[in-house]
Amino acid sequence: MISGPVPVEPNANNCAALARLHAQCFADRWSAKEFGELLSGPGTFAVACGGPPPNGFVVVRGAADECEILTLAVDPACRRRGLARALVIEALRLASTAGARKAYLEVAESNMPAISLYAALGFEILGTRQNYYQKRDSTPEHALVFGVGLPLPAMGKSAGIGYTDQQEGRS
Ligand SMILES: CC(C)(COP(=O)(O)OP(=O)(O)OC[C@H]1O[C@@H](n2cnc3c(N)ncnc32)[C@H](O)[C@@H]1OP(=O)(O)O)[C@@H](O)C(=O)NCCC(=O)NCCS
Repeated sequence: MISGPVPVEPNANNCAALARLHAQCFADRWSAKEFGELLSGPGTFAVACGGPPPNGFVVVRGAADECEILTLAVDPACRRRGLARALVIEALRLASTAGARKAYLEVAESNMPAISLYAALGFEILGTRQNYYQKRDSTPEHALVFGVGLPLPAMGKSAGIGYTDQQEGRS
């Protein structure tokens, strides 16, 4: 019973639910099988909330002292209620407990809801990846690379974006 935010057991039902929710939120679909394979990988886990089926989830992959947010999705009917904030905070708390000291992610440069969310959580822009995404109309779009030290800074901090075009800085 998901209420959460709680870690998700990567069984067939849960992977199918994550795939359905992901398809509601992104143009590029990830199948249930892909979620199953992803969540079987070393250091990779999902945290979800709501439902069942879940209203939102985040997938994080940890390696050594770093982790990466691979995807984050909230049901369009449940947005602006703090679900994404709660999911990211809990997932990064778990990653930090497992030894991660930095978190990274990529986000499309036009995705203002996600950019606002990550900036509010203390992430800062480290650089860009040119033509990293493809929009629904097939035109390319740059990705912004965000990073933050873990544990997350205190909530309520309004982080400076400090974005410089052409910077490439994941270190
Ligand atoms: C981005 C997304 C995950 C945000 O989910 P959410 O549950 O609505 O976000 P929250 O309610 O937790 O918002 C937390 C903060 O993020 C920012 N934010 C979220 N949505 C925003 C929007 N539409 N416009 C401006 N700021 C926004 C705000 O600072 C917000 O705090 P506030 O509500 O107190 O102002 C959701 O819009 C989504 O699933 N989008 C499609 C998938 C996607 O883009 N995923 C991220 C890819 S990296």
